Amino acid sequence: MKKRLALCMTCLLMGIGTAMATVNIIPKPTKVTEREGSFALPKDLTIGYNHASLAPAAAYLQEILTRSTELLVRSKAGKGRIQLTLILPDETNEDYELLSDKKGVLITAHSYRGIINGIATLRQLLPVEVEQDKMMRNPEKNGKGSDGRWEVPAVSIQDSPNFHWRGLMLDPVRHFFSVEETKRLLDQMALYKLNKFHWHLSDNEGFRMEVKAYPELTGDTVAWRRFNGHDRECLNRAAKENNPAMLIPWKYFKEVEGFGELYGGYYTQDEIRDVVDYAAVRGIDIIPEIDMPGHNGAACYCYRWLSCTQNGREPLCLGRQSTIDFAEKVYDEVFKLFPYEYVSIGGDEVNRRRWSECEECKKRIEAEGLKDVSELQAWFTKHMERYFNAHGRRILGWDEILEGGLSKTATVHWWRGDHPDVAQKSTSMGNEVVLCPFTFLYFDYAQDDNTLRKIYDGDIVPVDLTPAQLKLIKGMQANIWCERIPTEARMQWMVFPRALALAEKAWTPRTDQHWDDFLPRLQSHLTRLEAMGIQYRPLQTKRP
Ligand code: ACM
Ligand code: ZN
Repeated sequence: MKKRLALCMTCLLMGIGTAMATVNIIPKPTKVTEREGSFALPKDLTIGYNHASLAPAAAYLQEILTRSTELLVRSKAGKGRIQLTLILPDETNEDYELLSDKKGVLITAHSYRGIINGIATLRQLLPVEVEQDKMMRNPEKNGKGSDGRWEVPAVSIQDSPNFHWRGLMLDPVRHFFSVEETKRLLDQMALYKLNKFHWHLSDNEGFRMEVKAYPELTGDTVAWRRFNGHDRECLNRAAKENNPAMLIPWKYFKEVEGFGELYGGYYTQDEIRDVVDYAAVRGIDIIPEIDMPGHNGAACYCYRWLSCTQNGREPLCLGRQSTIDFAEKVYDEVFKLFPYEYVSIGGDEVNRRRWSECEECKKRIEAEGLKDVSELQAWFTKHMERYFNAHGRRILGWDEILEGGLSKTATVHWWRGDHPDVAQKSTSMGNEVVLCPFTFLYFDYAQDDNTLRKIYDGDIVPVDLTPAQLKLIKGMQANIWCERIPTEARMQWMVFPRALALAEKAWTPRTDQHWDDFLPRLQSHLTRLEAMGIQYRPLQTKRP
């Protein structure tokens, strides 16, 4: 009795309601055992690691704690009060275990990514202020003097993801996002164990990746463009809703001689390397997409010989060898910049009718014994697939790549929610699938349409797959198309808090997903999102 009272007194003094802090982790871990007590981070804190490969993970955690707390935080090979330990190394295993008690925290995993997952959980065990720059919290005192106790509740967590593909796709073509804005999204993804960033780098409205072999792709009138209908729509909404997040940012305008003010931007190869390195530290793979053969207005505009009509209208002409050479040379540079297994060729929404009117495309169809223009696209995709494979890469494409025949090594992004048989069809042929049906996972769709609840409760994984087919489901991602998303603030409004539902759908087994359990955890995370400066959409908001 006395002991309980003493505990309650301690709680009162510490300003918390119970002896055991409530652990609210998203995505929900496999097993959490809460224990009494906590680890109070000491003024002089060392993060130790047992394997040289973990040095960047330790430095990453050190940076988070140095930015947010007044503590003196170091990281070093060897022992620390926060210990990162790699055992039985296995790159494919993302599991981790986190043990904390009054003496310290131990994160154990089989891979760098597992350790990073453990760090994400540790962040969520710490007070929300860990997500904040101390200088922002208390600027008049140079960040000093306002910190509470930095405590990690005593827990034992064993955790393992259900899917290895847990992603977000961003479209910086329709509206541009700077390197800094992109990095902030990567930071937010890392906190919720989202580990694939699909970067849509080319489209009709612009080409966003510097390609040394084809410098015109990022020329002033290709990576930049005149105002279009979507820009005007955004501005109308900005005015109508009095919403600055819908304004087109001035920082992306540039005066181009003979054209006036144009909108756009691109990433230099150095910037891309920087973003790739930044993501890698956070355990995130970047999947680049250079969309071919459709969605190529920008490339066809500056290199007219790429299109059937030679007047700048897409798609790429597949009858001409020069187009195939172009595709290979562009991807050569992609392969050098992105060190990951998967590269996306896009392949969606191709206006194939143009090929049926092009003499050179017709010749190709005849010479290759193809039946029609769908098979022409499949011929191109298979050619590029061999090229990817020869460079040690695997090809990914939107689900239109199924049409006209698909080879075994291609992975399919199921996006057309109104084609419910895509996962069934692809997996029955032995092809892997990443799920991103627009009916659930298009985050550019209004939050009142693809609602948080719809995403959380939905059967995103089709229920009619056999166990063998289920093994071919790699995971899921949400897509953020940015025609109507002109700013980072608007992007955050569309993405959060839905990204937390996605994270749990992809990490936690379906049988452990319960809305009534998720919602209170989510609510407890809203202050964390605020601390991160995320302009998320409050739960009760009505349109827009
Ligand atoms: C897509 O939304 N066109 C993949
Ligand atoms: Zn053609």
